[in-house]
Amino acid sequence: MNATTMKRQHLIDPAICIRCNTCEDTCPIDAITHDANNYVVDFDKCEECRLCVSPCPTGAIDNWHLVSRPWTLEEQFSWDDLPPQETPSADAPAEPEPGEVAAIREVATSATGSRLPPPFSAAHPYVNLYTRERPAVARVAGNYRITDAAAESDIHHIVLDFGHQAFPVLEGQSIGIIPPGEDARGRPHMMRLYSVASPRDGERPDHNNLSLTVKRVAGGVASNYVCDLKKDDTVQVTGPFGDAFLMPNHREANIVMICTGTGAAPFRAFTERRRRAMRDATGKLMLFFGARTAGELPYFGPLTKLPASLIDTNLAFSRVPGEPKHYVQDRMRQRADDLAALLASEHTFVFICGLKGMEQGCDEALVEICRDRGLDWPALQAEMRRQGRFHVETY
Ligand code: A2P
Repeated sequence: MNATTMKRQHLIDPAICIRCNTCEDTCPIDAITHDANNYVVDFDKCEECRLCVSPCPTGAIDNWHLVSRPWTLEEQFSWDDLPPQETPSADAPAEPEPGEVAAIREVATSATGSRLPPPFSAAHPYVNLYTRERPAVARVAGNYRITDAAAESDIHHIVLDFGHQAFPVLEGQSIGIIPPGEDARGRPHMMRLYSVASPRDGERPDHNNLSLTVKRVAGGVASNYVCDLKKDDTVQVTGPFGDAFLMPNHREANIVMICTGTGAAPFRAFTERRRRAMRDATGKLMLFFGARTAGELPYFGPLTKLPASLIDTNLAFSRVPGEPKHYVQDRMRQRADDLAALLASEHTFVFICGLKGMEQGCDEALVEICRDRGLDWPALQAEMRRQGRFHVETY
């Protein structure tokens, strides 16, 4: 079948769609409908006005397949996944690219003029969908301690379920939690921000939930509230927040992740995204993770089970009895050759998350590592910042 005789069909990806009904509400000509299983687009009605595309919280709406025979509504209702694209013949004219892809490519052109692959997902970081005045209400699906029972740090993995509310997040985004009650001066408690620890398709794949990694802080209002939550409790949530500290979405991206303690949360999301949906990625994941001991390191068990082919894990323990103190920057120095090789690539992104104090130590290590290998870290860092390839979130 020659592509010139093929038709372009607007389809909704059932694996991503969260059934929020936004598209059906938006469509001015009732071309979108649904049954108990799926939301679908009627080929005979859709005029490709694309008004439904930008309101869609997940991007599930933005699929345009070349088809030799349009899929019927009944066929679309039965899908769990989109069918594979048909291959146009070699002499087929190129199809126009849908939506904003051309604009996104423009933005992704680096300051040096070389072209970076576009982070497609970064076109859709939704922020401020829910506010203090109009929060989402999530249900606690689980709350688990993830540091050893004997460990000093009491760190919890909390799963929040959003039911039928649209709460789309990308890896690297945060949410706000509003603790109930008032402070000593009678004012409502302030909202606290927590990084999301699960990938975009949910803590449980294809469920409308997400997870957080929260450390109990002595006297802390929000951390104690969150760490004490019981299954089926409800929580007021704001956000999502953040449109810069986002996982690069292209398969060639090398991602260097440097963290301490609960700073690991976004990197769990990045790693799970790669593990679940990007097994064929050619870019490397390199993690430097600092904690007092193995027992104090959140997700120690699951993390150490991940294969070396997925992630290059470097742990730094600072308080193991009888052993010298190790910080992430010490491990970075030990891996200097490999780290420098990654830093020299325009496909490499660096993310730092955790204690404020680690910033200076990491910077000094990077200066040293680069200097000894013919790279100028301050200049490279400035270029990486300009290109959105260097991000820091510390507290
Ligand atoms: P330390 O044992 O010296 O406190 P925490 O458990 O307090 O969240 O800290 C996580 C890890 O970060 C610990 O191993 C801690 O070491 C380490 N750490 C503390 N300060 C720094 C720093 N300036 N640079 C790197 N790591 C640090």
